[in-house]
Amino acid sequence: MSASHQLDQRARTAFREAFGYPAGAVAVAPGRINIVGEHTDYNQGLVLPAAIDRHIAVGLRLRRDAQVALRSDRYGASVTLQRLPSRRQGNWADYVLGVAREINSRFGVGPGFEAVVASDVPVGAGLSSSGALEVALAVALLAARGIEMAPLAIAQLCQTAENDFVGARTGMMDQFTALKARGGNAILLDCRSLEDEYIPLPDGRLAWLLADTRVRHELASSAYNRRRTECEAAARVLGLSSLREATAADLERIADPVERRRARHVITENARVVLAADALRRRAPRGLGPLLYASHESLRLDFAVSCRELDCLVELAAGMPQVIGARMMGGGFGGCVLVLLESAGTDDVEQHLSQGYADEFHRSPEFYRIRSVDGVMPERAS
Ligand code: GLA
Repeated sequence: MSASHQLDQRARTAFREAFGYPAGAVAVAPGRINIVGEHTDYNQGLVLPAAIDRHIAVGLRLRRDAQVALRSDRYGASVTLQRLPSRRQGNWADYVLGVAREINSRFGVGPGFEAVVASDVPVGAGLSSSGALEVALAVALLAARGIEMAPLAIAQLCQTAENDFVGARTGMMDQFTALKARGGNAILLDCRSLEDEYIPLPDGRLAWLLADTRVRHELASSAYNRRRTECEAAARVLGLSSLREATAADLERIADPVERRRARHVITENARVVLAADALRRRAPRGLGPLLYASHESLRLDFAVSCRELDCLVELAAGMPQVIGARMMGGGFGGCVLVLLESAGTDDVEQHLSQGYADEFHRSPEFYRIRSVDGVMPERAS
């Protein structure tokens, strides 16, 4: 049974147990890795993500009244509300409530609903559990209400919910990937033109390994929003609508040293995405190695979103002959390091990382050996 099918079954069973009757609609959305292109999406830049075999499933049924009842096998307490609130609650339910409110505001107020969330995406690890939750909820609720929507429009709706209701000013990479990814491929997404292209991933001789620091920083979301503000300020100084338009020659015109470093990260990171996509297209995946390391350095020094634990895992990985490249992944301040390596060396690399990390931090990282999968609504090659 495929990973997504298993989660689908779990959500159906959990729904029946919680509410005593079957779910009306079920949707399953994957988490993601991002090969390179970090903190570029909200700067109208380029990203190169792929969906992975870790999923969130939502089972849902519309009610006759306005009540909203939510259960989860992964997130904390159950939530029951007499109607959709207009303010955030400060817990996991906000992703669900925010998406439901966006759907109501575009298509008219619908009835309340019961929903169960089943998940095997680790939370706070940088694998986009929140994006997957939003997308699964949106697809299930739209299906239950009989509304058809194109994947790009669903991704935008979810992003608006996260920005406006949850208050995290994220880009659209995660939601877009959860919807449109295709197994065996990364998606090169241009967040300015919204054009996307499937790019084949390396064959089975190479593998992607995630090493989770198991560090979760409480301040991550406020620091994330601050980075976005700094990038916007840098673009404004240059008289540009976003840093996508900026070039290395512009940097000296940014007087504030922090803003200048943030801009330099975005400019160089966009260039690395172009090179990485090119290496993959040419079937020369070893060319990704230097790009991954350079991305990590840029995130560490210019964007300042790494932490000691992430740096330690990248350094340990770089010392192994089986490793092609490694970098911190996702928003930062904890979470996972992404490692590209020779498949045959996976056991050795895990052992080396475990040992070195435990020596330094007296705890073990967690490893996820991941495969690429389809998103909820992949485009098929015609
Ligand atoms: C989070 C956000 C994305 C993106 C990454 C950093 O995952 O949800 O939109 O900004 O961080 O690249």
